[in-house]
Amino acid sequence: MKDLLKLVSVVGARPQFVKLAPVARAISSNTAAEHKIIHTGQHYDADMSQSFFEQLDIPRPTVDLGVGSARHGAQTADMLVKIEDYLLSNKPDAVIVYGDTNSTLAATLAASKMHIAVAHIEAGLRSFDRKMPEEINRIVADHCSDRLYAPTPAACSNLQNEKLEDRTLLSGDVMLDAIEHNIQIANETSKVLKDTGLVPGQFGVVTVHRPSNTTKEELSRIIQALQKVADDYVPLLLPAHPRTRGVMDTIDVAPKGRFVLTSPMSYLDLIVLIRNAAIVITDSGGVQKEAALLHTPGVTLRDTTEWVETIEFGVNRLVENDESSILEAVLDVLNSPDVFSDELRQELRIMYGNGKAANFIAEDLFEWVASRRT
Ligand code: UD1
Repeated sequence: MKDLLKLVSVVGARPQFVKLAPVARAISSNTAAEHKIIHTGQHYDADMSQSFFEQLDIPRPTVDLGVGSARHGAQTADMLVKIEDYLLSNKPDAVIVYGDTNSTLAATLAASKMHIAVAHIEAGLRSFDRKMPEEINRIVADHCSDRLYAPTPAACSNLQNEKLEDRTLLSGDVMLDAIEHNIQIANETSKVLKDTGLVPGQFGVVTVHRPSNTTKEELSRIIQALQKVADDYVPLLLPAHPRTRGVMDTIDVAPKGRFVLTSPMSYLDLIVLIRNAAIVITDSGGVQKEAALLHTPGVTLRDTTEWVETIEFGVNRLVENDESSILEAVLDVLNSPDVFSDELRQELRIMYGNGKAANFIAEDLFEWVASRRT
């Protein structure tokens, strides 16, 4: 009997747990593979980590490296040392990395230098803004990986432009798989609308956590603009990332009245909120796309995006961080008729892979990893 194929997924931050869930499920259907999960510990609060593993039914990580928060260099270096140790003692056939975080970067570097095959899920995204740490992480991860699973045709063409087409496959987006697997469960079990008293179709969801939006000055500006939205137009709910909460504690403005600050939401509560909101205002890559996939229009508090289709489809818009631009964009969305025609919903679903990305990736991975052994 042949040895099991040894696959290792490395994750560490909230959006990676969401991407891992459908992939782990798809891999588990193959009895010829063994799949271990390494958690770097980049996100460690229970509501940023454990709740995702529980709700999304992800197998417990084999190891938690406990890296935690630090400056980029120190955080990535600590992960690199610990991931290398793990790989040295466990010798997997392939390492699977997800998205664009420092955990992605560290795992890609550690494995590729040990000549272990690396597969990158959500490859090829580019904002073309190298001031974003995530952009550097994506470029390095793509260039050092051996198999690139691109979620969209635009991601494929970015990889082609960087001469990486030989190792690229259009896989669809595993985040659509996660939504389709969970939205009904979320609708049936989440109590978030009842608990918050928010009325479907009559509120907005806000997330802000990018370093560029969470300096004292930028965050103050965003809060002031959004306070006007909440006071004059729709109530807003802001589940705050720990960094945002930390900065909020040091500035003079704080959400009040119909602008409500909460702890980070669980995945199921967040997708129910996004699905039922009139508008999503965010600087998160994942949340702006989830808004499109859940048919809620979005305003993105950034001047670039890697999810260019959402802009082309007219369901998301980029906005500069000043009060009049934010207000104008939000009012424009609130006053526009529903842009999500049946045809557009269908097109979006097809664009992001019909909810079948994880199965495609798992099947290709088995074949590809097995072929490297022979
Ligand atoms: C990371 C990713 C980003 C992703 C985001 C999702 C990088 C470079 N960025 O950013 O791509 O969109 O995750 O959330 O990897 N903190 C806590 N508790 C936690 C987690 C974080 O208190 O459980 C605080 C720490 O003070 C930390 C700060 O949040 O300094 C930022 O965490 P960090 O790990 O640097 O990454 P994110 O900004 O979350």
